[in-house]
Amino acid sequence: MSISLKNVSKLYGEQKAVNNISFEIKTGEIVGFLGPNGAGKSTTMKMITTFIPQNSGEILVSGINTLDNPIEVKKRVGYLPEHNPLYTDMYVKEYLTFLARLYKLKDSKNRVKEMIQSVGLEKEQNKKIGALSKGFRQRVGLAQSILHNPDVLILDEPTSGLDPNQLVEIRELIKSFGKDKTVLLSTHIMQEVEAICDRVIIIKNGEIVADDNIINIKNNKNKEQVIKVTFDEKIDPTIFKSKNIIAKEIDKENWLFSSVSVTDLRKEIAKIAQQNDYLILEMNTEKDNLESIFKKLTK
Ligand SMILES: Nc1ncnc2c1ncn2[C@@H]1O[C@H](COP(=O)(O)OP(=O)(O)OP(=O)(O)O)[C@@H](O)[C@H]1O
Ligand SMILES: [Mg+2]
Repeated sequence: MSISLKNVSKLYGEQKAVNNISFEIKTGEIVGFLGPNGAGKSTTMKMITTFIPQNSGEILVSGINTLDNPIEVKKRVGYLPEHNPLYTDMYVKEYLTFLARLYKLKDSKNRVKEMIQSVGLEKEQNKKIGALSKGFRQRVGLAQSILHNPDVLILDEPTSGLDPNQLVEIRELIKSFGKDKTVLLSTHIMQEVEAICDRVIIIKNGEIVADDNIINIKNNKNKEQVIKVTFDEKIDPTIFKSKNIIAKEIDKENWLFSSVSVTDLRKEIAKIAQQNDYLILEMNTEKDNLESIFKKLTK
């Protein structure tokens, strides 16, 4: 296991910011870490990257204990913190070269060049970091986190502030990095999770409420069927009541039906409509997306 957390808790005074969480992430996995504001995502990431210690529980990164051997863990981890701190008085290329030397990288010149290209900083490389726009600063942070080619990458909201073109490129970069490494990234963008993650961990009030691959989360965790139906005239919704079907009006002819008990909601609606002389013009199953599942699990 590249990352392993066992019964980890973090207290801030009285508050349990992270409450007895456990999970494991294997090499080659890209895991999306989701949760509402204040759920404990950044706190968990700070503990994995050894920036703050946990109060109880055990964290291993590439088999190394974070409390016993933080330096060895840091060598293997790339970290993009939430409020990415940078030396604003240094120039982009100068800063990355400085870091490459700190890491004692062999071919630091070429590595820096490669990183600048990967994150699209060619034009900005000779500017002072303090003069960069938000998205470009984020790119410097990303370049910095991948520079030493770590085994494990921890990215706290990596694409916040990026423009749509750059978003696609950075997501591709993270995806290609994740092929033979381990990536844990937090985000509030559900499309991002669907685009790059194999698995999601959802945290709420410091506790894990879901941990599964995306397909399972979308299929199993939610047995409710929802169907949108268009009729040729306004209907009387009470005709569906006896079957425990909930009817919600969108507008005069369009209705949203939901049920947790009916086996096939489409068949049932068609049957009842026919019995009552209503003509169905259109019927569509509302696909559950990650966003609605997230809302259900974290409300
Ligand atoms: N240094 C600190 N001192 C006191 N409380 C803290 C500290 N850092 C975090 N907290 C609290 O711990 C809880 C979890 O915060 P955390 O930053 O981990 O949330 P998050 O899931 O990253 O949220 P967001 O999506 O807003 O970034 C919050 O209630 C926060 O106020
Ligand atoms: Mg955070």
